[in-house]
Amino acid sequence: MSKYVAAVDQGTTSTRCILFDRKGRIVSTSQKEHQQIYPKPGWVEHNPEEIRENALEVIAVARIKASAAVEDIAAVGITNQRETTVVWNKHTGKPYYNALVWQDTRTESYVSELETSGGPDQFREITGLPVATYFSGLKLKWLLEHVKDLRQDAENGDALFGNIDTFLIWHFTGGPRGGIHVTDVTNASRTQLMNLRTLQWDPQMLSAFSIPEKMLPTIKSSSEVYGHMQTEVLPGVPIAGDLGDQHAALVGQVCFSPGMVKNTYGTGCFMVMNTGNELKLSKNGLLTTISYQFGNEPVQYALEGSIAIGGALVQWLRDNLGLIKDSNEIEALARTVDDNGGAYFVPAFSGLYAPYWRTDARGVIAGLTRYVNKGHIARAVLEATAYQTMDVVRAMEQDSGIPLANLRVDGGMVANRLLMQFQADMLDVQVIAPKVTETTALGAAYAAGLAVGFWSDKDELKKNWVSGASYEADMDNAKRVKLYKGWKKAISKSLDWL
Ligand code: G3P
Repeated sequence: MSKYVAAVDQGTTSTRCILFDRKGRIVSTSQKEHQQIYPKPGWVEHNPEEIRENALEVIAVARIKASAAVEDIAAVGITNQRETTVVWNKHTGKPYYNALVWQDTRTESYVSELETSGGPDQFREITGLPVATYFSGLKLKWLLEHVKDLRQDAENGDALFGNIDTFLIWHFTGGPRGGIHVTDVTNASRTQLMNLRTLQWDPQMLSAFSIPEKMLPTIKSSSEVYGHMQTEVLPGVPIAGDLGDQHAALVGQVCFSPGMVKNTYGTGCFMVMNTGNELKLSKNGLLTTISYQFGNEPVQYALEGSIAIGGALVQWLRDNLGLIKDSNEIEALARTVDDNGGAYFVPAFSGLYAPYWRTDARGVIAGLTRYVNKGHIARAVLEATAYQTMDVVRAMEQDSGIPLANLRVDGGMVANRLLMQFQADMLDVQVIAPKVTETTALGAAYAAGLAVGFWSDKDELKKNWVSGASYEADMDNAKRVKLYKGWKKAISKSLDWL
């Protein structure tokens, strides 16, 4: 009998493979970073082939670390950075261009044209999403318009499109020799090409962005056997789970009931609320998206507040300013001071996402005096994530009519105790992390394991959720109001930039 499920978590900065046992505990982990390519201001690319190689390598290493035989692995689940757009040739498997990463803003001129002609919310009814540089549809349009021969190949059925999930599954299941060209409803919902009600590619969207349907993958549920691994690592093992990373984290946090919310602090920061069978269109700048769909069960919808820059701001402080050598050092630096010293940092590096959706916003550091030192800047960097989360919580409470009772958190930044305490203080609710904080990978494993009967049902998964660190709010309201007012002032500067 198989002992483990393998999850491949292909994120913005690295690719991981984690093996989980039946209790949802981590058995082994392997991780590899990939190159971030910035050809021009606002452009962000990845090399899809590097990512594919890294994925195979981390699977192999995780298996060796666990001393697991191929037969010990019941299934593979894939989860991925969403929206990031790849096009490749069906006969060679070679990408036509680097992957355009979700943070990339090169489609800004398409966005302004669309906003002028039909307004920012013209596609919300069909797709749940505003017009923005974030989603795959406009990135694909850009590629079709700028890469030689691509449109013709796409129209002939020789060029394929996918997000990273699709690219990996196609290669893992045989590539040019019969690879399976699929995606799942959660990933498809982020292309801005899928109709949220029919769960199919929408003809109106394809025509609005001039996308040939032939190049698009088949949309499947998030939990079913799509095909089997045709690679040296794990040959013959079924690939049975596919979810965008934020949806996977919702599953990993077992947020299966309507109203349950999780917030993942990664490169960006993404809050998702399960709204069950109900598709709720946001009036407050949130996205309507899919929570997950398990096999033939009804699709579950969600509201999402997406924040482009969370942990990425800490990396920026490390890589672009050299203020710290390692991301972990930020907490100690921030603890050298008692507060932000009046400084606020709005990290609008890719414009501002939820709830503002302003492509033209730019990053600002506001409130500087000579008193401010690097400790205050470190603090402002961490606080920026908490304030952005607060903006999203306010929008979610207004859209759902449900006040936030507590917040389930996960992702790399939850190890930062100062940030988590500040988050609880600002939101005035308990912030609670599960014992296994790798919920993204866990969710992909759960989807794959459910499809092959490794786990029997959602109730079994719920029993695996064990609470870890928790933080109680401990700040007086006057202070909270004052801090948030400062943040809103800084936001107004960022929005006014152009
Ligand atoms: O929408 C982008 C998101 O899926 C990226 O997630 O964890 O790579 O920051 P992450």
